[in-house]
Amino acid sequence: MTATETRVAEHYTNGALQAAIEAGWAKMQAVSEAAPVDQLAGVDEFHIGGRPATEMVCERMELAPGLKVLDVGCGLGGSARFMATRYGVDVEGIDLTQEYVEVGNALTREVGLGDKVRLLRASALNLPLGDCGFDRVSQFHVGMNIEDKDALFAEIGRVLKPGGLLAVYDVMRVGDETLDYPVAWAQDESTSFVAPVAAYREAIEKADLSVQSAEPKKELGLEFFARMKARMAESGPPPLGLHIVMGKDAGVKVANMAANIAKGAIAPVLMLARKG
Ligand SMILES: C[S@@+](CC[C@H](N)C(=O)[O-])C[C@H]1O[C@@H](n2cnc3c(N)ncnc32)[C@H](O)[C@@H]1O
Repeated sequence: MTATETRVAEHYTNGALQAAIEAGWAKMQAVSEAAPVDQLAGVDEFHIGGRPATEMVCERMELAPGLKVLDVGCGLGGSARFMATRYGVDVEGIDLTQEYVEVGNALTREVGLGDKVRLLRASALNLPLGDCGFDRVSQFHVGMNIEDKDALFAEIGRVLKPGGLLAVYDVMRVGDETLDYPVAWAQDESTSFVAPVAAYREAIEKADLSVQSAEPKKELGLEFFARMKARMAESGPPPLGLHIVMGKDAGVKVANMAANIAKGAIAPVLMLARKG
């Protein structure tokens, strides 16, 4: 691992995540009749918009049973388990953070998806995967931790099959205003590499993929944080929520991200690209 990757993995490492999730999940199971994969969505879909955003991205990925999907920076694997359950695809996830991979694989076994979803510890910049092995690649809120976007999309382009589709749902720069830290992905700017849509477009096209669309989702972001704030004021943190993965300064991170979006500095953006 590079020095930056070590710091990024340390940022996400909690040390007691399995126990925290199991405790919250037990409380959820007592009050919820939702399917287990859906009960976990509040904590294991660590991106702006949570499950509804995952659904929005997946609807655009042309998924069908039997297709092979790579989820880059899969975290706890929530998006991977959702795709496997809803669309019948087979998903490999890779992530830098060992604890996320271990806890994610345990959750996958617990919900009975061990034959459809496999998570591996690896860097997105050095995928331990062969060329042209995946029909689809997804990336949810990962590029903000990766400075070298050319290397990132070169690796993704290498493992994608010709004709395959890439969906990137990252937080991107949409204005020049200064960013307030900490945010969910970084304590300060030393491990934050938020880039403009144009930089993504350039890096993706250098990897011989053609960008089909780039859609900022500012309103989705603002509504997500407003709902989270209202729910917190009304009933406190839910049994399974992003406060578990964001740690003790979760409240400050949420406030900063909402402010950064409101002032027009950043927005979640959905980009789709196809390998020729
Ligand atoms: C905000 S979380 C999103 C996790 C997941 N995609 C989701 O939406 O739930 C960012 C994730 O990116 C991973 N990550 C950051 N840099 C990475 C890299 N160079 N290679 C692989 N994973 C990386 C982190 O370990 C973390 O799990």
